[in-house]
Amino acid sequence: MTESSEINKSLSEKSVHSVVRCLAIETSCDDTSVAVVESDVQGDVFVRSLVSANQDAAHAPYGGIVPEIACRNHSMHLLFLLEQALEKANLKSKLSSDSIDCIAVTNRPGLVGSLIVGLMTAKSLSQSQKIPFIGVNHLEGHIVAPFLSDESYKPRWKMDQPFLSLAVSGGHSTLYLVHGFSQYEVLGATLDDAAGEAFDKFAKMIGLGFPGGAQLDRLAKAGNNKAYEFPRSMVKEDNYLMSFSGLKASGQRMVEQLKKELSPEEFHKRQADLCASYQEAAVDMLMAKLDRAFVKTGIRRVSITGGVSANSRLRERAEQWAQQKGIDLQIPPLRFCTDNAAMIGLAGVMRFQQGQISSLDLGPSPNSYDSDFQGGKNR
Ligand code: KG4
Ligand code: ZN
Repeated sequence: MTESSEINKSLSEKSVHSVVRCLAIETSCDDTSVAVVESDVQGDVFVRSLVSANQDAAHAPYGGIVPEIACRNHSMHLLFLLEQALEKANLKSKLSSDSIDCIAVTNRPGLVGSLIVGLMTAKSLSQSQKIPFIGVNHLEGHIVAPFLSDESYKPRWKMDQPFLSLAVSGGHSTLYLVHGFSQYEVLGATLDDAAGEAFDKFAKMIGLGFPGGAQLDRLAKAGNNKAYEFPRSMVKEDNYLMSFSGLKASGQRMVEQLKKELSPEEFHKRQADLCASYQEAAVDMLMAKLDRAFVKTGIRRVSITGGVSANSRLRERAEQWAQQKGIDLQIPPLRFCTDNAAMIGLAGVMRFQQGQISSLDLGPSPNSYDSDFQGGKNR
C-alpha cells in the first residue's frame, strides 16, 4: 500500500457527519496564519485556536507587498505559529493522526512564493504524521468565513440555503451567489483594481502610509463625504461588474491639483474630507451592485467578507440597507474577515467530509482553477 492510499484509507474510515478536527495553514499573501478548527455533530465549525503574524511593518517602507519579503517572513513565522496554535487548542506535542483528522492549506490563488511555504509545510506534516491534507482556494475561505463560530460569535444562518456574498479585500472584489458549500456562482467581479487596493493607493497618495485602508476609514469619520466629487463607475450598468481604477485615477488627479494649490498645512486640513468623499464613492459602488443582486435574485441572505468589510462606512450603509429592505445581513467579526487560517480550516473540514483530499503532487497556483467557481452546475 502506498503512503497516499494509507492516508486515503484513514479518510474512508471517517463518517461524513463525525466530528472532524483540522489544522489549517494560510500563507497566500502577507499574513501567516494557523488555526485548529473542529466540527461538531451538527456540522458547525468551532475555532479552537487562531494565531496570525502580520507583516505590515516589513512591507510599509516599500509602499506595497514585496513577494520575496512576504515569502521569507512566512518561513520565519510559520513553525512558531504552528506550535502556538496547537498549544492554544490544548494539543501541545500532539500533532498526530489521533488528534488531527486533516490538514487544510491554501494552495491558490496567491503569491506563489508565499503559497509554497504553507503548502510544503502542510505536505511535510501530512507525510510524517500520516494525516490527509487538502488544498483549499483562498477565496472559498472568505466565502465560508461567516459560518465559523467561537466563544463570542455564532453564525445566524447556515450554508444550506442560497445567499449573496460580497468578498472585498486587498486583492479581490467579487460578488457571488452561493447555492451551498462548493457551489459558487460568480455574479460579477472588479474589472481592474480591488476595492482594498483603491483604498490603499489613495491612502498612500495623501500620506497615510501602507496599508492605509483602516487609517483612511478612521480619518473619514471626521470628514464631510460631500466635500469632493469622485466618480461612481458602472453603478448604472445592468450587471454586477465593478471598476475602481477610475476612482483611483480621479483621486490621484485631485490630490495632485490640491497639492499644487495648497500649502502642506492646508492640504493636511483637507485630508479628512478627501477620505470621507473618496470612501463614500467606493461604498456607493459596492452597495449599488449588492442592491442590484438582491433586486434581481430576490435573495435576502447576504454576507460581506474580506478585509474591506472592516470599513465602518460600508458596515453602516449595509446595515441601513438591510434594515430598510428586510435583508438578513451577516458580516463576521474582523478576525474572520481579514486573511486567517480558520476560514481555510472550515473549507478543509467540509471538503474532508465530502471525501476530497489532495495528493502529494498538488502545487501552488497564482490563480483559481477553472473548476472552482462553476456555480455547482458541473458538480
Ligand atoms: O482580506 P485582507 O486582510 O487581505 C487580502 O486578501 O487582501 O484585506 C486587506 C485589505 C487591505 O487593502 C486593507 O487596506 C483593507 O483590507 N482594509 C480596509 C479596512 N481595513 C482593512 N479598507 C477600508 N476600511 C477599513 N477599515
Ligand atoms: Zn484574502
